[in-house]
Amino acid sequence: MKIAVAGTGYVGLVTGVCLAEKGHIVSCVDIDERKVALMSSGISPIYEPGLDELMVKNLNRLNFTTHYREAYKDADVIFIGVGTPEKHDGSANLTYVYEVAEQIAESIEKDCVVVVKSTVPIGTNDKIEDLIKTKLVHNVNVHIASNPEFLAQGTAVRDTLHPARIVIGVEDQDPGKVLKEVYNKFDAPVVLTNRKSAEMIKYASNDFLALKISFINEIANLCEIIGANVEDVALGMGYDSRIGNRFLNSGIGYGGSCFPKDTKALHWLANFHDYELKTIKAAIDVNENQKLKLIKKSRKYFDSLKGLSVAVLGLTFKPGTDDLREAPSLVNIPIMLEDGANVKAWDPVGIENFQRLHPNGVSYCHSIEETLKDTDICFIFTEWDEVKDFDLSKYNELMRNPIILDGRNCYDLLNVRESKIIYDSIGRETVNTLEVSLV
Ligand code: UDX
Repeated sequence: MKIAVAGTGYVGLVTGVCLAEKGHIVSCVDIDERKVALMSSGISPIYEPGLDELMVKNLNRLNFTTHYREAYKDADVIFIGVGTPEKHDGSANLTYVYEVAEQIAESIEKDCVVVVKSTVPIGTNDKIEDLIKTKLVHNVNVHIASNPEFLAQGTAVRDTLHPARIVIGVEDQDPGKVLKEVYNKFDAPVVLTNRKSAEMIKYASNDFLALKISFINEIANLCEIIGANVEDVALGMGYDSRIGNRFLNSGIGYGGSCFPKDTKALHWLANFHDYELKTIKAAIDVNENQKLKLIKKSRKYFDSLKGLSVAVLGLTFKPGTDDLREAPSLVNIPIMLEDGANVKAWDPVGIENFQRLHPNGVSYCHSIEETLKDTDICFIFTEWDEVKDFDLSKYNELMRNPIILDGRNCYDLLNVRESKIIYDSIGRETVNTLEVSLV
């Protein structure tokens, strides 16, 4: 089929490339000339494992362009995959989605299905339909379908090629048939429903996962107080298939481009309809506090970080991505700098993006060793493999004071007990094997 995809971010580009992999002819549209030139030569502008290889493999079925009219005019299906960032009031900003909808209306010259992949508040597909139908230039039939994306960054290609489910929201049969044809080479259960339910499935899924994380983080905080171990607790809970063992890792809170914004947007939408989503509100509040957990722990060791040399391991919101959106590092490093700390940071792929946001104040290092050298305290914000595999004895060898605050529970406490360090993690006992106590 001839497919156009609007937007070449994590959702748009990965969708386009995976549809080409399944044999469709795909035109990816973006307004950024530089990105289009890069993608045309088989280079992905975003860091996503496996994406470059898949782009290069399918370049004969892929076209990248800034000329939306060319891409949309005779497409069988047009996917909208542009961003819906958070507005200051917590609601979703739909400017980009509506801009694309207008461009589609002025461009299409044959019947087509417009598929909304971007995460949009419940009811937005209806508004997109009204907008396109009132602004149509040519006399064509257009259907709007909701088809939310469930990919996670870092595993986006695998998640898209092998989805757990394909959700299709339509108001009549024809667009549903077209979408089933688009996905006929994908092996996944299809949930066929109406558009509002499809939109809600996306928000409810993300918000439920965010809630699960905030729940285990609260349990972790209580475990610390009463002397239980949250990892054992999560293990014991996870064997119950009604609960499941995934998304029960406690830490310094969820970040990224989806959970923070989607929890706030659904809460906002419910409020707008005079309904308070109490569980979601709690998940949001717990997460805000959780992000400050390590800074609060640091006060046990030092009244202030003034004049101290601080090591930061990990800047991105999770491993496997260079994305910093809502990352705990963005909240914590400014506090350290405000305190007057000398901050040294390491991340395998996130430094460039961090530097763009915070051009001054942080020294960036090429290795974990260089970061730790002569520091007084170390904060772990991202569970990169390089951190998890790091030889624990080196913390003592390299640091002035080997105090490690681990926001991602990277190390087994049995191994920690064999090293000479102070190790403070989330929801587990603090281990202090230093002969001279610093606490
Ligand atoms: C998420 C959803 O997983 C995906 O289905 C949706 O389409 C987009 O949002 P993503 O934001 O890429 O994907 O990352 P995810 O792996 O879900 O992690 C989100 C955040 O939760 C990260 O900050 C991660 O560190 C945190 N997290 C995740 C935990 O703190 N504990 C966990 O057990 C799992």
